[in-house]
Amino acid sequence: MLATSVSHVEPSIELANLVSEKVRAWYSANQRNLSFRHTKDPYLIWLSEIILQQTQVKQGLPYYEKFKDTFPTVEALAGASQDEVLRLWQGLGYYSRGRNLHHTAQIITEAHKGIFPNSYTELLKLKGIGSYTAAAIASFAFGEAVAVLDGNVFRVLARLFGVDTDITSGAGKRIFSDLAAKILCPEQSAMHNYAMMEFGSQLCKPHHPDCVNCPLQEVCVANQKGRQRELPFKAKKIKLKEKFFHYLVVQKDGLYAFNKRDDSNIWAGLYEFPLIETLSHHAPLPSCELLAEPKKHLLIHQKLWIHFWQVAELPSASSSTGWFSAQQIETLPKPKPITEFCAKLCKI
Ligand code: ADE
Repeated sequence: MLATSVSHVEPSIELANLVSEKVRAWYSANQRNLSFRHTKDPYLIWLSEIILQQTQVKQGLPYYEKFKDTFPTVEALAGASQDEVLRLWQGLGYYSRGRNLHHTAQIITEAHKGIFPNSYTELLKLKGIGSYTAAAIASFAFGEAVAVLDGNVFRVLARLFGVDTDITSGAGKRIFSDLAAKILCPEQSAMHNYAMMEFGSQLCKPHHPDCVNCPLQEVCVANQKGRQRELPFKAKKIKLKEKFFHYLVVQKDGLYAFNKRDDSNIWAGLYEFPLIETLSHHAPLPSCELLAEPKKHLLIHQKLWIHFWQVAELPSASSSTGWFSAQQIETLPKPKPITEFCAKLCKI
């Protein structure tokens, strides 16, 4: 079959209306009570969506509450230092999102005088706001008739209409956007979008969809053909690139050598022990002692092996290093493996 051929069901207006009605009715009866859904403040919606892109709701909620309490308005977030923002972000990973959040808060406060752009098109122009987040803010805060497409919604659409096209391909993205737009109830866009996401996360789950209790079982292609496990279709993953990070733990007069990472790579702006990157697990210097088993740390396209070595002196190359007490290090924003090492092994 040609990749571009249409093999899925194109919903009629009647089917599109039925899907939205059934999913919204299901949502009214089954939704979780989540604080970030009870606001129309675009700043808080934005904050919650950016945090929830990083992690599951259970893990993300405390971060949302912490950010909301510390920075209740976009102006408050804009006025914070980058270190303060990254410190609160710590543990969520993907720190460029935290930095974009801060940067965009400053743009909204200064260029937009604190008034949040109120349309999908204007929101898309902001750094760190992609089509998902723009649709979420535009529909939840302003009731604009735009459909959200996150992993949950993709899965529901793929199963319901039997879409075999790879989600990550250009053709796939168009097919899914068209289907999402077709079934959107324009007068109830916020409710429809909340409902689709919740339906995907709580009922049409990746591994154990609850088809027996599904209000759409009679119209669902995957249910009729027993294809729930095959859909959504995803192309095979590429192999992760392995990297070997060696951190040098050097103490002098009760202070630790520590660096701030530059802006050109992962963990930009975070603080860490002096780092040597090599092509293997082997000791990076002639005289150093391994402080813990190497730890694996997965990023989107990379597998990092993290090692910590006790070293008496810094190699002369590391001239930009600062010296910090354990208390100072505790307050600095750090990559997750560094925080974990400090907590367990250095008692920093
Ligand atoms: N409701 C609104 N946005 C959400 C999200 N990102 N994850 C789960 N539920 C949500």
